[in-house]
Amino acid sequence: MTDPRSTSPDFNFAIHARDGQARTGAIAMPRGTIRTPAFMPVGTAATVKAMYPEQVRELGADVVLGNTYHLMLRPGPERMERLGGLHKFMRWDGPILTDSGGFQVMSLSALRKIDEDGVTFRSHVDGSAHRMSPERSIEIQGLLGSDIQMQLDECVRLPAERPAIEKAMHLSLRWAERCRVAFGEQPGKALFGIVQGGDVPELRVESARALTDLGLKGYAIGGLAVGEPQAVMLAMIETVEPHLPADKPRYLMGVGTPDDLMQSVLRGIDMFDCVMPTRAGRHGLAYTRHGRINLRNARHAEDVRPLDEASDCPAARDYSRAYLHHLVRSDEILGMMLLTWNNLAYYQALMAGMRAAIAEGRLVDFVGETKEGWARAEA
Ligand code: GUN
Repeated sequence: MTDPRSTSPDFNFAIHARDGQARTGAIAMPRGTIRTPAFMPVGTAATVKAMYPEQVRELGADVVLGNTYHLMLRPGPERMERLGGLHKFMRWDGPILTDSGGFQVMSLSALRKIDEDGVTFRSHVDGSAHRMSPERSIEIQGLLGSDIQMQLDECVRLPAERPAIEKAMHLSLRWAERCRVAFGEQPGKALFGIVQGGDVPELRVESARALTDLGLKGYAIGGLAVGEPQAVMLAMIETVEPHLPADKPRYLMGVGTPDDLMQSVLRGIDMFDCVMPTRAGRHGLAYTRHGRINLRNARHAEDVRPLDEASDCPAARDYSRAYLHHLVRSDEILGMMLLTWNNLAYYQALMAGMRAAIAEGRLVDFVGETKEGWARAEA
């Protein structure tokens, strides 16, 4: 028997075109190719909330994100492995990136305590006690069957004092090294490091350089969109970008609004994930070519227009704003499903638009035209 992986790509990032700092390309992996810049829908608990996996794929998403924290609590990593892994479980056969758990422990769990070896916390589900170390995070991500695994890190919310930011950044570097050892060599899979350092440029540079020395397959920028203004986030991306290897994917974690995505792609980011399109969709908000629309608002009650008559997505094209308003006001499940579908369609179309624009060397014009479309609706 030949190893089926011997004929499939390992983890090969090819850049096809550049436009300023922006790049478009593809990451070829055994489970599929990720076109970049890529937006990864968030599938926290083995589901992209309110979406069928087939729909997510049809919208053009090449990769989804799963959360180690949620899946270790429920259904549990060992059970997931017995059930054949996360891909089979959730019926997503493309690549899956898993976040390592540290960020979610800090934001969701109770009584968390960080020490050199890892983090102890209580589950937000049932209060049970758990322990996560860099080695256990990698072990869990392996049991889930994740294709792109993230190092365990500590993310500090901003604003924060420099000593706290520095301490978390150094701990994250030591954990990156331990994750690299635990991960070892896994053909077809990747471990990404996470740059920390808050809003302190020197710490960001130190973090990026030290992670680069580990020779990982990709690099994330973490600790952003955690309370700082957009200008600070963009400044940090500009600080870090020259210190990351140009031939490796760069992933901005947990970002963002459509404008955040465009501004970050302009500054050299290749991958994103964010709950915004899915969460906003469950709260009555629609992202469209005409800007963000709050369907709860009474002004939509008799508006027979669809969200976007020119969209390929049925949710955007075929349902009136009046109907969506009614569904949202009535707390109907279909309202959440349609708005989530619309929002992910918009996000994927935005990424496809940026990829095409970069290939044609007109990303700045594309960004300008996109923002003009939002402004026209607001006027
Ligand atoms: N998601 C958003 N930001 C972060 C971060 O800094 N670290 C991790 N692990 N996940 C994130």
